[in-house]
This record gives sequence, C-alpha cells and structure tokens, in this order.
Amino acid sequence: MNRPGVAQSEGAVEIAPGVHWIGVRDPDLRTFDIILKTANGTTYNAYAVRGNDGVAIIDTVKANFADDFFRRIESIARYDEIRAIVLNHMEPDHSGSLPELLKRAPQAKLYISGRGRPMLKGLLHGDRLEFTAVHTGDSVDLGGRTLRFFQTPFLHWPDTMCTWLADEGILFSGDAFGCHYCDARLFNDAVGDFRFSFDYYYAHIMRPFRAHVLEALEQIEALPVRIVAPSHGPVLRDRPQRYLQRYRELSSPALGKETGELKTLLVFYISAYGSTRAMAEEIAAGAEEAGGVLVSLYDIEGGEVAPFVDLIEEADALVVGSPTINGDAVKPVWDLLSSLATIQVRSKMGGAFGSYGWTGEAVGMIEDRLRGLKLRVPMKGVRARLIPTEVELAECRSFGRDLALHLTGQMENQIIDMATLA
Ligand code: FEO
Repeated sequence: MNRPGVAQSEGAVEIAPGVHWIGVRDPDLRTFDIILKTANGTTYNAYAVRGNDGVAIIDTVKANFADDFFRRIESIARYDEIRAIVLNHMEPDHSGSLPELLKRAPQAKLYISGRGRPMLKGLLHGDRLEFTAVHTGDSVDLGGRTLRFFQTPFLHWPDTMCTWLADEGILFSGDAFGCHYCDARLFNDAVGDFRFSFDYYYAHIMRPFRAHVLEALEQIEALPVRIVAPSHGPVLRDRPQRYLQRYRELSSPALGKETGELKTLLVFYISAYGSTRAMAEEIAAGAEEAGGVLVSLYDIEGGEVAPFVDLIEEADALVVGSPTINGDAVKPVWDLLSSLATIQVRSKMGGAFGSYGWTGEAVGMIEDRLRGLKLRVPMKGVRARLIPTEVELAECRSFGRDLALHLTGQMENQIIDMATLA
C-alpha cells in the first residue's frame, strides 16, 4: 500500500518554465550511508534545464534507481538533445547513473569540479574520462539561459559545487540544504513539516564543515534565490531564504562565546572508585592556577553525549579520564569520543589520564583517538595505579597547569627555575 504523499508518479515535474525535476524516490529506505536514520525515506533529486540550444542534466541518481530516472528524462527530452551533464557532487547516490547516461547521450559534455577528478576516475574506471573542470564563475550557455558554477568545497566533500540558473533564480545546491525526506508532493510548501529532518541532516552531514558552510553562504546569500533545488528532499520554492538563514543559525556557535578572552578547557572523567575523579579534580585545579583558562569538570557517567558534544565543539581543549578495564577505556568514554566525528575538533588541544589496576592502556588509547581526530596532544597523559599517591596527584596538577600554559601560549615563554632541575 502506498502511503500518502509517497506514491510513485512516472513523469518529470516542472519546477519552473523549462526546468524539471527528474529525480527518484526511495520511500522505504530506513538507514542512509549506514549511519543516518531515514524515517521518511529519501529522494535522489536530479534536474533537467532546457535552453534554445539543448538540454542540461544536473546530477543523476543512485544506480539501482536508474530506470525511473531515465523514464523521467524520456518524458521531457530526447537523449540527442542533451548537450551538458553537470555533476555537483560525485558521491554514488548522485553519480551512480552517470555511466549509463553517458552511453545514452555520448555527445553530451560533462562538467564537474576539478576536485572531482579522482572520484570520477573511481566511478568510470577509464571508460570515459573526458570532462570539463569548472571553477567559480565559469558558465555554460544553453541558448537563452546560462548555468553558472561556483565552488562550495566540503559541503560535504572536497568536490562539492553549486549550479546557478540566473533567469529563474534557481540554485541547484547539491547535498547542501537537502534532507532525507521522501514525499511525492515534492515542494516544501506541500510535503508537511520536515524541519526535524532538515536539522538532522545538517547535524550529520554538514556540521563537521560548518566553517565551510559559512563561507558558502557568503556567496549564496548574495544571489536573488527564488528556488533552492537540493539533491535530497523537498524542492524549496516557498521562502527559500529561511533555509539559508537556518544554515547560518546552525553553523554559528550554538552556545555563544560567553567566556571573553578566556580559553576554555573541559575535563571529562568517569570513575569507579573515585581515583580517576581525584585526578580530574587536580588537573582542573592545576589548569586554573595557570590563569587565562575557564575550566569545567564533567562526570561522563552523569551526562548525555549530545550536550557534551555541543560543549566540545565550542571549547579550546579537552582532557578525558578513564579507568582501564580489561585493557580498554570504558564504553561511555568511547561513546563520547566516537561522537566527535560530527563536529570539527581539528587543532583543539587534548589530553588523557586515568587510574588503572593492571596495565593502564586506556590513557594511550584515548590519546591515539584524539590524535586520530587531529587534536594536538602536547603532553603525555598521566596514569596512576589504583589510588593515586600524593606525588601522582601533584603530577596531575602539574599536567593541568602545563596544558593550560600551552593553551594560552605561555608555555614557550615559561621561565625555568634552574633550582627545580637539581
Ligand atoms: Fe547525497 Fe554526499 O551525497
């Protein structure tokens, strides 16, 4: 039984004079790219733009939906009319039907971003590697109407770009401003409330690249956009600017910068018998002694991952403390660390500590994870067997102080008291 709004229709849908949606619907998809939940399925949107001198196809669809895609093309154009194929993004959900389209329209010129070349090579495996690499400002004249390109790298791959049809004010935006939400009514003013899906998609696809989102918005907000035509989800024809504005809101610091000139250091810990907690408290106290740092202390066991991730996104540094159990850090620590892939943490400062019984691998494992996320880990972490001694607690205090000095740029200028080296 078809659910309301997701019935498959055969034909293309006109979104503006001479501009058609020729995408496909995947209403039963429940997980996208292994990790994203898709309660409403998704769509793979593609578009056709007709000019006086021929037709341009913008993006294709996932390979196993090719039949629907070609049927929709055939409902509005002949293959020999296609003179341009534009791929805003090379991921297979948008490029999967390209090889077949090139066979059916061999005369068509292929336009991609220069950074898409290695991906095109991986897709076509030498079948046909002729393409035109386009840059911001390049354009293709279709006769009476022009497609203009601009690079929007890392929304959300290096190759991503947008295509602009000025005479209709249509931005073909690729994954940006998309969402996994399938509804045959197609347009944002007809499909019901999909805001949760829009925000969820942003959080999982665009959030790690929010600095790039803000750069792209500088270009996009200058355009007189009447329709945003993304590669997933509804076509945004009703007040499209509010979706640009929503991206700006979502890409701006969620918690605001309320700490003035202070650097922010977060100390996370989890502790079975209080030892790792005691170490955390000494590290926090040492960091405070150094000055110039706002230090916050959190017990991972008592918190939820999502707000911790928000905090980390805005912080300058984090240290993570875990006991070692069976040669590993404990699961709540990994739950937190595995969630950091959804935000940008590169170049933040990191460190690790923890108490242990036998071998104490957790500290090194956490450090490896932080380095893998491209954090700077300037100091070897602190470990203590079972209950930390006074000496070990002093090491923790010193660790916190030195980390804060690194963070505030004071470490290089430290005056070394030679007496302490004796
Ligand atoms: Fe929808 Fe990045 O592919």
